[in-house]
Amino acid sequence: MESRLPSGPFAKCTGDGMGNPSIMSDSAQTPGRYYLTTPIYYVNARPHLGHAYSTIVCDAIARRKRALGIETWFLTGTDEHGQKIERSAAQAGKTPMEFATAISGEFRGLWDRLHLTYDDFIRTTEERHIRGMQKLFKTLCDKGYIYKGSYTGQYCVSDEAYVDGPPGTVCPDCGRMTETVSEENYFFKLSAFERKLLEFYEANPDFMGPDSTRREVISFVRGGLKDLSVSRTTVAWGVPVPGDEKHVVYVWLDALANYITALGYGSDDPTDKARFEKFWPADLHLIGKEISRFHCVYWPAFLMAAGIAPPRSVRANGWLLFDQGKMSKSRGNIVRAETVDTVLGADALRYFLLREIPFGQDGSFSFDALVQRYNGDLANGYGNLVSRVVNMMHKYFGGVVPEVGAETLAEVSLRESADRAIVVFGPAFDAMSFSEALKGLWVLVAETDGYLTANAPWKKRPEVSDEEFAALQARVLATAAEAIRVITALVYPILPESAAKVWRQLGQGEIADAAKNAFLTEIAWGGLQAGIKFGEPAPLFPRAEKDAVERMRKIEDENNRTAVEAASGAENAEHADSSAPHAAPSALSVEPAPAAASPSVVSVQPSGDKSSSLSPGVSGEHNLTQATHAPTDQNVPVKTIRVAPVDPDLASSRLSTTPTTAPTKGPLADAGQKDESGAGSATTPAEASPASQHINIDDFAKVDLRVAQILVAERVPKADKLLRLEVDLGYEKRQILAGIAQYYEPEKLIGRKIVIVANLAPRKMRGLESNGMLLAASLEDGAPVLAGFLEEVPLGARLK
Ligand code: MSP
Repeated sequence: MESRLPSGPFAKCTGDGMGNPSIMSDSAQTPGRYYLTTPIYYVNARPHLGHAYSTIVCDAIARRKRALGIETWFLTGTDEHGQKIERSAAQAGKTPMEFATAISGEFRGLWDRLHLTYDDFIRTTEERHIRGMQKLFKTLCDKGYIYKGSYTGQYCVSDEAYVDGPPGTVCPDCGRMTETVSEENYFFKLSAFERKLLEFYEANPDFMGPDSTRREVISFVRGGLKDLSVSRTTVAWGVPVPGDEKHVVYVWLDALANYITALGYGSDDPTDKARFEKFWPADLHLIGKEISRFHCVYWPAFLMAAGIAPPRSVRANGWLLFDQGKMSKSRGNIVRAETVDTVLGADALRYFLLREIPFGQDGSFSFDALVQRYNGDLANGYGNLVSRVVNMMHKYFGGVVPEVGAETLAEVSLRESADRAIVVFGPAFDAMSFSEALKGLWVLVAETDGYLTANAPWKKRPEVSDEEFAALQARVLATAAEAIRVITALVYPILPESAAKVWRQLGQGEIADAAKNAFLTEIAWGGLQAGIKFGEPAPLFPRAEKDAVERMRKIEDENNRTAVEAASGAENAEHADSSAPHAAPSALSVEPAPAAASPSVVSVQPSGDKSSSLSPGVSGEHNLTQATHAPTDQNVPVKTIRVAPVDPDLASSRLSTTPTTAPTKGPLADAGQKDESGAGSATTPAEASPASQHINIDDFAKVDLRVAQILVAERVPKADKLLRLEVDLGYEKRQILAGIAQYYEPEKLIGRKIVIVANLAPRKMRGLESNGMLLAASLEDGAPVLAGFLEEVPLGARLK
């Protein structure tokens, strides 16, 4: 990276380079108020369960804080600027604003559907944010922390992050290929904060967590901080840099600023100012673990530089995994929160996420595990307990809580259990050990259940008088109901809708009103008064039948199908308009084996195969027949074409002998030299090829090989081996189906520059049209390795 000292309209930004920020490192919560935030979500795709997870966790925390009488401000929102959104919008044929508005609405709609109690929802395209962002930028300049320079280096569009390394470097965070950017930028003097940050972490041991995050962040900072480019000139979709509007603010600075602009930073309005004064610094930024560096390094440094206190804490949640991988759209393994809500309700989802996954760790989501937890803990556990007690209270006492005589040992024991639960639950929850908190509380559920069963208030034994039995019924039902009251109060932040129902059934009124009155500050045993009239019994968690899993899967399949169809429809429409010649019949046309996902990979084989080089195929899917499908008038010797997978008998040959993607040897590289003799094949398997298997240069010229960039990569439902790719050839975009799903995670492919056979006849697979083939080497086990470039190449460039 090369940088110069400031110039132009920002000459005043030179400053002394250090400023003198007052850094408040107050880590204690201001009594009586609590400000927490979710990450703001990119609007490049609709929300899925992974997004819902962070937001649900924040909602549970916000509800508990409010019910403890703490004035709480819960912020969420959408991150709408940057190259990633610009590209997604272009792909969808919409303006960035239209696109962002639609997806932001989806996020907000989902949060409302799930009854999440955010106090504010910010969009970074809102005026209030832009104003605040520009003020922050100007403040950083005025304090001498921003200067103008130029940057040449790598950029990961998917993470919107700068990456160290030469062209061809893969993003260390997401594994996608970076792009080279070279532009004039404004730089933030991050390097000036290395020591300050380390001191800050030291002085505030609770600032970040879990420990793994803390360790990673500290080691990142210790490794040395370089100044950070904080503007872009090659991206238009962003907040203009004040005074130099050909720049837009780097999207991460823009996004992080939401936490203060939403409160009112940058506004002159007294209400906004008061809100900012009251709630900043944030008590908690809850984030996904992959964005710790931005929140624990850049964000406190920006704030320190601007003279604003850093947040009090940042906590990273782990990833929600599905089918073994991080749930994400590009991976094609998403589940929608709506699906679970439709079949089991939002509370079931909240309970599962908080109970099943120890916060901070990755956790697997599966419909089976969800239904098992739901039935075990909610339907048969808490729900059944409530229903038994409420029904018996109605049956034996007309729904009115009876007077109770002296406690027996059994009641003492249950009361002590409840006291323990109260003591343990709060601190565990507040330490974000939600799973532990719930586990402890469910011990009380089980003990209450056991107490009920042991004392059987429904069964009069002959030796017990009517009077004694009535006293037992009163004592046991009132005691069990009291335990339920305690359980319900504690679990309310996690099961708000169900707790509200139970609260009514216990004759306690509206739990939301109780929460406003800080009811969690006084839930000690003994709150259920004699004479209280119970509400009508109402079902809580109807047992999930066997088909629940199937129903959820069906909804998801349907969602995926619709999404793929929509995408392929759009793609086809695009193709229809395209004038580029890509539909010409090709010598390399490949027929997929009937049952297989389609093989849009051309493999360069390692070779004990005495023939050849260009091998279209899909690993593990195809027999050798497809080459014969090449049109006969193409004059391409079909024997030179062989299909992956690599024949196990050939597996001994090494890749090093491959006629490769390497630039100098082998048929591809030599094609441009008028040398049809196989020269250059001296070190390749082609040297052993009988002359009859050679092709001449004209044959080769028929194959239109082009550089393309992968824009979209996703799995095709019900086709294990198939990925649907959308690639950009510069002059047009295309859809290609490739049989590489077992070897490449789709999300890691996005942004990669690859080589495709561009003039392959289009063909349909799984109802989707494929327009081209990828070029890849094929390893011994049949695994493809996509061809790529070490230098920058323009999209659409022809390989010859
Ligand atoms: N826009 C940035 C955040 C800016 S905050 C100033 C961003 N957006 S994101 O939409 O890609 O992801 C936002 C958050 O969604 C993640 O940090 C994480 O909290 C959540 N998750 C998305 N997928 C997830 C899982 N599969 N599992 C758990 N959380 C995940 O990063």
